Amino acid sequence: MREYSLPKLGYDNLAPFLSSEQLKIHHEKHHKSYVDAVNNILQEMSGKDIKQKRVLKDFSFNIGGHLLHSLFWKNLSDQKKEMPQEIKDSIEENFNSFSEFKEKFSSAALTVEGSGWAALTICRETGNLIICQIEKHNVNIYPHFEILLILDLFEHAYYIDYRNKRNDYIDNFWPFVDWQEVNNRFTHFNKWHKIEKNEENSLN
Ligand SMILES: [Fe+2]
Repeated sequence: MREYSLPKLGYDNLAPFLSSEQLKIHHEKHHKSYVDAVNNILQEMSGKDIKQKRVLKDFSFNIGGHLLHSLFWKNLSDQKKEMPQEIKDSIEENFNSFSEFKEKFSSAALTVEGSGWAALTICRETGNLIICQIEKHNVNIYPHFEILLILDLFEHAYYIDYRNKRNDYIDNFWPFVDWQEVNNRFTHFNKWHKIEKNEENSLN
């Protein structure tokens, strides 16, 4: 089976949001540990007489860790990115205004219990934008909801720079969001979603 690999980052540091030390440890130690674990589990899966319950649970946690981190790195940027019109319009349509969305997303991020993530997702059936609070890397994830924007709330993501001040970490996140990437995910989703819808209609 093909193995998973640690993606390269598109930046060296994201100061003042994240120091290079914080970024490096997070990427090269924590994210890498999920990649290594998931590759080991893949090996284990190909063996006979494996403990399915434990192996599948471990796979779920570690593959979630790898994939969510990969999405997280890509929706951050060291360049200021203006918000494209398509995603801006959709956020305003779904949350009344950008400031209302920001407030709700920040509050979801702040109240993640223990370790987890806050994410802006889009539902494949309705096209609604929904904020999700993911526990660990794999709890409260909905099928058919694509992630457009995600923020890591594990303490390992911010503890070197912020200690226990999760609030400051969340506030400082916003200027470093790569809205172009968020918009790319949104327009890509819409393109394929429309194709699927058209196919469904043509079957009727
Ligand atoms: Fe993390």
